[in-house]
Amino acid sequence: VPPNLDRARDDLAEFARLVGYDLMPWQADALKLERRYSVVVAPRQVGKSRSLALLGLWWAFRRPGAHVLLVSAGEEASRRLLGMAAEFASSSPLLRGSVVDEFASLLTLSNGARLKSVPASERQIRGEQCSLLLCDEAAIIDSDLLLNACIPTTSAEPDARLVFASSPGAPEGAFYDLARQGDEGVEHVQSFHWSLSDATWVIPSVVDAARASLAPAAFTREMLGEFADTGIDERVCERAWIERAQRLRFEESSEPVFAVDVARHGGDETIIVRISGGRARVVWAAKGLQSIMPIASQIETLSKAEPGPAPRFLIDVDGIGWGVFDRCNQIGGLRVSAFQGGTSPTDRRRHLNRRAEAWWTAREALRTSQVDLDPSDSLLAAQLGAVTYSLDLAGHIVIQSKRTMRQSPDRGDAIVMAIWAAARQNSGEQIRLLLEESTKSIAEQAARGHEPSEIELSAEHTPTEQAFGGHDRRGWRARLDPDLPTFYGG
Ligand SMILES: Nc1ncnc2c1ncn2[C@@H]1O[C@H](COP(=O)(O)OP(=O)(O)OP(=O)(O)O)[C@@H](O)[C@H]1O
Ligand SMILES: [Mg+2]
Repeated sequence: VPPNLDRARDDLAEFARLVGYDLMPWQADALKLERRYSVVVAPRQVGKSRSLALLGLWWAFRRPGAHVLLVSAGEEASRRLLGMAAEFASSSPLLRGSVVDEFASLLTLSNGARLKSVPASERQIRGEQCSLLLCDEAAIIDSDLLLNACIPTTSAEPDARLVFASSPGAPEGAFYDLARQGDEGVEHVQSFHWSLSDATWVIPSVVDAARASLAPAAFTREMLGEFADTGIDERVCERAWIERAQRLRFEESSEPVFAVDVARHGGDETIIVRISGGRARVVWAAKGLQSIMPIASQIETLSKAEPGPAPRFLIDVDGIGWGVFDRCNQIGGLRVSAFQGGTSPTDRRRHLNRRAEAWWTAREALRTSQVDLDPSDSLLAAQLGAVTYSLDLAGHIVIQSKRTMRQSPDRGDAIVMAIWAAARQNSGEQIRLLLEESTKSIAEQAARGHEPSEIELSAEHTPTEQAFGGHDRRGWRARLDPDLPTFYGG
């Protein structure tokens, strides 16, 4: 028996040392569990998850038969957290005999105590009871779920402890309220704020890169660990435009176009959007990682349900989307095109890549009231409104990377792809009309003895202007992005 085993029972820091994964003093200090509720507000990568995993193990180690519930924002995160705890347990003689059941997301210690790691979902949390509840990334756990599903898991235990750790989001919601209560010294709640500069393992160049690529509010939240609302000027789509689109009602008119965004992770959704005459709707949504087969057959079903010629399906082929694309080509009779967000945009001076071009096209369509969105799809509205943009040093529009977002904006991405595809489809039609018009007027002018005038179709027309503003050939430049006039340069 190691000499300081007794101290390890009483002291988390000592326990961590014995297990071989030391905690920094500021990490251990925040997890003394002096009050029922502890809140840790911290930047990215400062050790929130690692500290929670160690704390969960410590609690289980000193309390035979205890139940610890670890709640993460998503499935991948919850697996990672269980993996961390399992790694710590397996590397220390102190925790010999611990058994991991990955299928049940359960780590059981030899004293009968168990740690269960689940994603934040009603179904997974319902019925659980624990004496220690650890919520990781609590700012992006739905407030309702946090209050009405997570917290009640401890209601049977008078001495239970609850820890909510997260990098902050906007100053709203249950995590924010708890953090503020802790700051204000409300009974039973204590808040702790960690700082990036204390985390010696975070490389400064990574922080610099984040500063360059993140919108200022996002940098404040993710790197400074402070609550910050996203500035309106950093959102690609303003909330007001989205709400207006939810009130608009358009008739379906032109040929429909479909967009398919295939889930990358278990917690993401596979989304199919149909757009016709500016009316964009999610027509299929499936949660959880799908095999490509049901997605491809859903595409086939939707295609066959359309009365006219086979409609076009734009498939995001990053990740397993390629498989879906491939399969659809094998099926035959389907019109599919591949979308890759990282490829070159039409206008390389304005957009960093295709994804930026598509989001900007959708932004313009929303800003100029060209799209009608489902008023009941609040998830879509939230996702469209959450994505931010910045400008790189060359003035290209850069859309916030999915990797820096806590929740993949699947619905938003699919709607954006659909709007972009529709804009391009319509722009083909617009260009034909414009050319016809110009040819006609050239012919008319020639008939009246005038010199032919220059064809007015400009190569600088982006798909949106061609599709939605093409008929107003003088006005579009002025209507476009009043906030960013310098970067359209001409
Ligand atoms: N006390 C520590 N000593 C050494 N390394 C640490 C310590 N705490 C955390 N780390 C390291 O920091 C990195 C980030 O840890 P962790 O994933 O727990 O952070 P996080 O705050 O949950 O990050 P994220 O916000 O990305 O979820 C890991 O590589 C981890 O090993
Ligand atoms: Mg983490």
